[in-house]
Amino acid sequence: MIDSATLWWDSGKDCLCYIEQTLLPGEYRIIECRTVDRLATAIRRLEVRGAPALGVAGAYGVALAARTSPHEDFGAFMAGVRQAAELLRSTRPTAINLGWGINRVLVALAAAGSCDQARAIALRQADAIAREDTACCHAIGDNGAALLPDRCTILTHCNAGALACSSWGTALGVIRSAVAAGKEVKVISCETRPLLQGARLTAWELARDGIDVTTITDSMAAQFMRAGTIDAVIVGADRITHDAVFNKIGTYMHAVCAHHHGIPFYVAAPLSTFDPENAERDVVIEERGREEVTIMGGRTYVPDGAKVRNPAFDATPMNLVTAIITETGVLRQPIDTRSHLSHQKSH
Ligand code: MRU
Repeated sequence: MIDSATLWWDSGKDCLCYIEQTLLPGEYRIIECRTVDRLATAIRRLEVRGAPALGVAGAYGVALAARTSPHEDFGAFMAGVRQAAELLRSTRPTAINLGWGINRVLVALAAAGSCDQARAIALRQADAIAREDTACCHAIGDNGAALLPDRCTILTHCNAGALACSSWGTALGVIRSAVAAGKEVKVISCETRPLLQGARLTAWELARDGIDVTTITDSMAAQFMRAGTIDAVIVGADRITHDAVFNKIGTYMHAVCAHHHGIPFYVAAPLSTFDPENAERDVVIEERGREEVTIMGGRTYVPDGAKVRNPAFDATPMNLVTAIITETGVLRQPIDTRSHLSHQKSH
């Protein structure tokens, strides 16, 4: 199985490199990103996407701001870095990892006494975040693999795979780890309208790894569950409050259907996706452009006179979640994210 990185710092070229995800599966292209503005555009366009990958991108974005800053006066330098951090933070409001990665580098910069020190510290911290993310995904994978039967068919939504992380993946990390442990896992990948991350990205990376994957349209999922084809649903998360799991639009629909059919509904996510400060009602759901819904393959499918809504995420209430698989263990019902987090902090 391939465990290559989705985004990384190229120290020879002193720039951030990433796989351009809007081009997949047709074209595999690596982008060399040299400015914060270019990175902000890449995040808005979903060239880089998926919660943990956004955390890593945000961290490298702050490092990029530090390394490209023309200032040698430390006050002006830090003001510029903070401004760049706020620009990056504003690009996507729902995935909490983006702000988490940015904040971790900003906090590390408090130890810097000069611009050059800050440049080195920012990059070191971002590299550490990228490495930790891969380690987290492997731990999530191992914890989740233990929950799966030796032969099973898993339904997933959107892309919570290597492409959504530094590597390996969260939901797909569970599947990869289960396959690596010798389990026979088949995957049903929902296409995930409107931007088709399931069809384009999940199917691409699983097929590349030789994992049995079948793509269906989102509206087929309920019937597959009713037919007894699905043993479990595993999805990732963009933010987990004490009362809800935010993930790609359509996730809630799968949770309701899984509950109705008595199918386990698992969420796989690192602790950096947990939001201890907010409740479901406080979270801003990103609303994206009309054209993502109206246009497919260059053709317009919705008349100009019709209104369109395009929320990028939905919230699944915690009572519909069978368990949350993290790098430090599995939270089962009654799921108490607050005590899990405070328990981790005290260790
Ligand atoms: O809009 P996207 O493509 O960034 O949305 C991604 C998702 O919703 C993923 O399921 C989520 O980030 C899980 S990440 C492992």
